[in-house]
Amino acid sequence: MHTYGTARVNQSGHLEVGGVDVISLANKYGTPLYIYDVALIRERARGFKETFEKLGVSAQVAYASKAFSAIGMIQLVEEEGLSLDVVSGGELYTALKANFPAERIHFHGNNKSKEELIMAIESGIGCVVVDNFYELHMLQSLCEQQGKVMNILLRVTPGVEAHTHDYITTGQEDSKFGFDLNNGQAEEAMQIALKMTAIKLLGVHCHIGSQIFETTGFTLAARKIIEKLAEWKERYQFESDVLNLGGGFGIRYTEEDDPLEPWQYVEEIIKEVQDQTATYSMSMPEIWIEPGRSLVGDAGITLYQTGSEKHVPKVRKYIAIDGGMNDNIRPALYEAKYEAVLANRVNDPVEETVSIAGKCCESGDMLIWDLPLPKAESGDILAVFCTGAYGYSMANNYNRIPRPPVVFVENGNVDLIIKRESYEDIIKLDLPLTRTMSHK
Ligand code: LLP
Repeated sequence: MHTYGTARVNQSGHLEVGGVDVISLANKYGTPLYIYDVALIRERARGFKETFEKLGVSAQVAYASKAFSAIGMIQLVEEEGLSLDVVSGGELYTALKANFPAERIHFHGNNKSKEELIMAIESGIGCVVVDNFYELHMLQSLCEQQGKVMNILLRVTPGVEAHTHDYITTGQEDSKFGFDLNNGQAEEAMQIALKMTAIKLLGVHCHIGSQIFETTGFTLAARKIIEKLAEWKERYQFESDVLNLGGGFGIRYTEEDDPLEPWQYVEEIIKEVQDQTATYSMSMPEIWIEPGRSLVGDAGITLYQTGSEKHVPKVRKYIAIDGGMNDNIRPALYEAKYEAVLANRVNDPVEETVSIAGKCCESGDMLIWDLPLPKAESGDILAVFCTGAYGYSMANNYNRIPRPPVVFVENGNVDLIIKRESYEDIIKLDLPLTRTMSHK
């Protein structure tokens, strides 16, 4: 078993996380159950922050809350002194309800509504990352109406796209996000923003992709942006105070994955920004990053109980669990791979290779193909690792299955931060017909 954070096998041969036997958690809270190793989240948060501090670079590390947003999670982010990236009114609402300091909230999105922008202005958030001309003008007029000034970054697409080990550079980026850096749109947006009275342009933002294992994509994006900023400085005397290079730092889901440590990404990014700004005699901007997956991904474990089995002779054995694409849609959506163990007997020898099926009425609801396991019996507890990012946040009620609860564990303590949904919750928004439909 590859171990993450505080996960270990205890004397009863059970998986233990944060000093808590996960089988006791399954007994108390039922399954499926999401568990977060809080110490590991803190370690990751500090890893990012301390690298900037050590190198004396002003920075903001903003947790991309789309990876997992809940009031308890946001409170933890605040405890660690990070900033916060939200992408919708719902994520902003959650942050505000968690009393997260508004001035450290950054608001993203390619189609923010008027209501969302008003919410952002009224709550006094730190920065809106403006994605397009429509939003830029709407934000200016809403701020004017309210007599307020909003800090913004312009989201630009530098023509670098990265995914795991591959990155590609394109002349003109075909993306729904942001202002293109190469075709003049970013420059036009900058000029417009500089003239706006209710807008304060702090700098630029880019996000090149997710689950990235190399630094080349980030450094190339930084280089392209700084080249452009140097032109803008020359022509318009505009100096960018902030350079936000987004998130996307990869994590290890299976042994095929070989990510860098958080500090390695940060060090390379800093070095490139320092080199490039020195080349163009520009002052060093504040560097902002937005890790989501790399802060919470490997801190999350999902527990399931095994149920029915199906043997297809000479082909495979399916073992079904009590969750699936409801609580983790990533295998169905992205063919994402995970590792798992039987949490109630981790030390038992591996005896067979099985495939783990979800319980939704859909053939594509397969959680893990070809997983080596001890001989599983119904009632065993399967622990799937690295489910902390984009698991709960993409969970759904397909087949009207209630969403599982979430617990935080740390130093032997357990905090239930999201309750299990009930059947009552499932129907709580439904309304009965108000008229009788009579068809003869
Ligand atoms: N900043 C921006 C502007 C983003 O769009 C994203 C992710 C992040 C930061 C955080 O990226 P991270 O550090 O988590 O890679 N649902 C997909 C991932 C979608 C990521 C979208 N944007 C998945 O489950 O793999």
